[in-house]
Amino acid sequence: MKMSDRFCRMFVVLLIGVVASSALAAEKPTSPQKTCVTEECHADYSKRTFVHTPVGLGDCKSCHKAVKPEEHTWRVLEGKDLCENCHLEQAAKKNVHDPLKTGDCVQCHDPHSSEVKALLKKKSVAELCRSCHPLVEQAEFLHGPTAVGECSVCHSTHSSDYESLLTMEPLQLCISCHIVTKSELEKFEFIHEPAKGDCAGCHDPHGADNWQMLRTSAPDMCYPCHEDIKKIADTSKHKHNVVSTEDGCLMCHTPHASTVKFILKSDPTTLCMTCHDKAVGIGTDEVLGAFTAEIENKKYLHGPVKEKDCSGCHVSHGSEHFRLLAKEYPPVFYAPFAEENYDLCFGCHPKTLVRTARTDDLTNFRNGNLNLHFLHVNKERRGRTCRACHHTHASNLPKHIRESVPYGAWTLPVGFSKTETGGTCSPGCHLPKDYDRETAVNYSARPTAKP
Ligand code: HEC
Ligand code: HEC
Ligand code: HEC
Ligand code: HEC
Ligand code: HEC
Ligand code: HEC
Ligand code: HEC
Ligand code: HEC
Ligand code: HEC
Ligand code: HEC
Ligand code: HEC
Ligand code: HEC
Ligand code: HEC
Repeated sequence: MKMSDRFCRMFVVLLIGVVASSALAAEKPTSPQKTCVTEECHADYSKRTFVHTPVGLGDCKSCHKAVKPEEHTWRVLEGKDLCENCHLEQAAKKNVHDPLKTGDCVQCHDPHSSEVKALLKKKSVAELCRSCHPLVEQAEFLHGPTAVGECSVCHSTHSSDYESLLTMEPLQLCISCHIVTKSELEKFEFIHEPAKGDCAGCHDPHGADNWQMLRTSAPDMCYPCHEDIKKIADTSKHKHNVVSTEDGCLMCHTPHASTVKFILKSDPTTLCMTCHDKAVGIGTDEVLGAFTAEIENKKYLHGPVKEKDCSGCHVSHGSEHFRLLAKEYPPVFYAPFAEENYDLCFGCHPKTLVRTARTDDLTNFRNGNLNLHFLHVNKERRGRTCRACHHTHASNLPKHIRESVPYGAWTLPVGFSKTETGGTCSPGCHLPKDYDRETAVNYSARPTAKP
């Protein structure tokens, strides 16, 4: 119907034959003319590569209304009446680009003709956009599509149902090109909450001075949402310095998704080993040996270590307890006994193994009903901490008993062997001793040092 409308108007144009002035024109016509476009008048409009259809048809009056034909004066239709009589769909979607709200299409389009497709007033879409949005040309890391001026891959130029005039829902837009990220989000079990939608929260979609177009670098990028981690990293008594270093978070976490819990980059053992496979210095004088030796080729791995769960005992960001332990555990070899000093072990093992002097079943480390855990550990002075007898991470002897313990400059052997109903220790601390749960060894019968 629009077309026939237009032909109608064209007919009127021809009938009245009003002619507009032209640069080339000798004289303004003051009487009705057959057409506005003649050799002398307004010929230039139709000589460009792209001519607006009504102009090509000589239908000037759909936009120009006569004021005083005898003086050849005209007024141009204004606002939405100018273009939207014929073009309804451009401004039809929910969010309308600002210039279209006033019907100001001619900010971008030449109403008559142009050398550029879509009657654009600038040489390219990007140049047009940038004339009003001088965005990101200076950024060190420009996004591929922005760098080549493809604004309209991501933005609708006129109106859109999505925020920021996007051509698609934001997440879909990014993963429509980034198919690796897409497949990670679809296939991996653990997805970082903001990566479920807010890609532009971390990346500037146009470009940025940070690597990967990041708005800031980690940890600053993470802290606004993870204040608790910042607090731990800044104020803990025992720090894991890697956490606060630039991009430190990303040494252990992926930003998007992972097959490992807590969006870790790999299983914790492998992860921790990326640094702890070699000695690391703490402060100025202390050195932690390569952790690899602790577990490599060991016959028995401690339950959580076997499960690759370092977090069972360590917190990674910083701790109030030595060695980044999650709970209290004495840092020393001997310690006066208090149950809460062993919160770490008793988080998983029953406290009852050290509570009572006599028991028939609370521990296997007993001689008859004499509780040898109680005897060694539960002392007011110089109670043996668990490390006196047990390895923490892994061991070659059953029950994680150590082969030896460091005693000053001496490596003191423990000499443990297990039997069906008990065991033997021949440590440097005292003469060899057996214990037997069924037939208690009579210690008073033999002369030994005090345990
Ligand atoms: C689609 C609407 C539209 C049509 C059709 C149209 N014009 Fe225009 N014309 C305009 C607008 C809008 C302006 C105001 C200047 C501008 O924004 O470019 C204008 C300006 C002009 C001017 C002033 C000088 C200049 O170029 O800016 C002349 C002359 C003119 N038009 C002649 C014509 C003639 C002759 C025709 C028919 C062959 C015609 N126009 C068809 C919209 C139109
Ligand atoms: C009298 C009806 C009419 C008016 C008024 C009109 N147009 Fe058009 N326009 C058309 C027709 C017909 C076409 C060609 C078919 C199409 O693409 O819809 C067209 C095509 C276009 C195109 C596409 C050109 C291309 O090369 O792809 C643009 C851009 C355009 N018009 C902009 C405008 C602007 C801006 C205005 C207001 C200044 C306007 N139109 C007013 C009828 C009109
Ligand atoms: C901010 C600049 C801008 C404004 C304002 C603008 N356009 Fe466009 N328009 C474009 C660009 C750029 C294209 C080319 C499309 C592309 O390549 O993405 C276009 C294309 C068009 C087309 C070709 C078909 C299409 O939809 O792609 C028509 C018709 C059109 N515009 C009409 C209008 C009308 C009518 C208005 C006013 C209501 C308007 N435009 C306002 C930038 C603009
Ligand atoms: C004539 C000036 C002009 C041109 C040309 C122009 N814009 Fe805009 N644009 C505006 C104005 C004004 C606003 C509203 C204020 C603001 O957000 O800056 C706006 C807003 C936007 C917004 C934000 C919309 C929102 O809802 O947050 C986007 C995206 C946008 N423009 C993209 C483009 C793209 C892409 C182009 C090129 C096709 C372009 N603009 C060309 C004037 C323009
Ligand atoms: C890869 C997709 C993509 C490309 C390409 C792209 N943008 Fe954007 N743009 C977005 C997204 C997503 C947002 C909204 C998120 C935000 O605020 O940064 C946005 C927001 C905007 C805004 C409004 C907020 C602001 O940052 O001022 C403007 C204006 C804008 N873009 C213009 C452009 C222009 C001009 C180009 C081409 C030079 C362009 N965009 C290219 C995706 C893109
Ligand atoms: C039209 C396709 C397209 C869309 C849509 C798109 N990108 Fe890109 N993106 C690219 C291209 C092409 C590159 C450059 C590829 C390269 O360097 O490996 C790139 C590079 C990147 C990079 C840097 C990657 C690197 O290895 O250097 C990031 C980060 C990125 N895009 C994020 C986004 C985000 C976030 C969105 C959504 C707002 C998005 N992209 C939307 C095509 C796209
Ligand atoms: C929490 C912040 C954050 C969010 C949200 C986020 N990213 Fe990233 N993205 C990063 C960081 C940091 C890197 C670079 C470090 C890395 O890859 O380990 C990155 C890297 C990338 C890369 C480069 C290739 C790669 O995977 O290493 C692409 C592409 C990318 N992001 C796209 C996206 C897309 C698409 C989304 C939305 C689904 C998104 N990002 C959401 C922080 C984020
Ligand atoms: C826009 C806010 C935001 C930003 C920025 C952000 N995160 Fe998150 N992150 C969340 C939300 C929301 C959750 C899920 C709820 C929670 O555990 O607090 C989450 C969860 C996590 C988790 C736990 C995942 C799990 O499976 O339990 C880790 C690890 C994480 N983020 C690391 C990071 C790192 C590293 C960065 C910086 C590169 C970062 N986050 C940046 C919002 C954010
Ligand atoms: C040395 C490796 C490592 C570094 C560096 C690291 N994390 Fe973690 N993160 C972990 C591990 C392992 C977990 C699982 C729980 C634990 O061990 O504390 C975790 C858990 C999390 C969690 C979810 C559980 C919780 O404690 O709230 C968030 C959120 C988190 N990290 C954010 C961060 C942020 C932000 C940074 C950088 C400031 C960071 N992480 C640096 C290894 C690390
Ligand atoms: C990116 C390297 C890196 C990774 C990955 C890493 N660490 Fe560390 N860790 C260090 C460095 C360096 C030290 C020495 C002290 C310091 O600088 O904080 C250290 C110290 C420690 C300490 C001793 C802290 C003290 O003050 O006594 C423990 C325990 C520890 N790390 C456990 C872990 C665990 C568990 C993981 C895996 C979740 C892990 N580390 C992953 C680099 C790393
Ligand atoms: C059952 C609790 C527990 C588990 C599980 C555990 N640790 Fe430990 N870790 C400790 C204790 C306790 C210490 C302190 C050692 C000591 O002085 O007895 C320690 C010390 C360390 C140290 C410092 C090394 C040193 O020479 O003191 C590193 C590094 C370490 N652990 C890494 C790890 C890694 C990596 C994992 C996961 C594979 C892990 N830990 C699992 C309890 C545990
Ligand atoms: C996160 C839980 C957890 C923590 C904390 C923990 N353990 Fe364990 N421990 C286990 C699991 C699981 C086993 C394996 C049990 C099994 O195989 O029956 C185990 C086994 C043992 C064994 C061998 C028992 C047997 O019957 O084979 C000893 C000894 C032991 N742990 C000592 C300790 C000491 C000492 C501490 C404190 C430094 C400690 N554990 C902290 C979970 C833990
Ligand atoms: C004097 C050496 C010694 C000390 C100190 C010691 N243990 Fe034991 N523990 C043993 C021996 C030996 C066994 C093996 C008993 C058997 O199966 O014959 C054992 C067994 C265990 C078992 C396996 C279950 C059981 O009770 O038989 C656990 C759990 C355990 N110890 C935890 C601890 C914890 C926690 C500490 C510190 C609070 C600790 N041990 C201190 C020597 C010791």
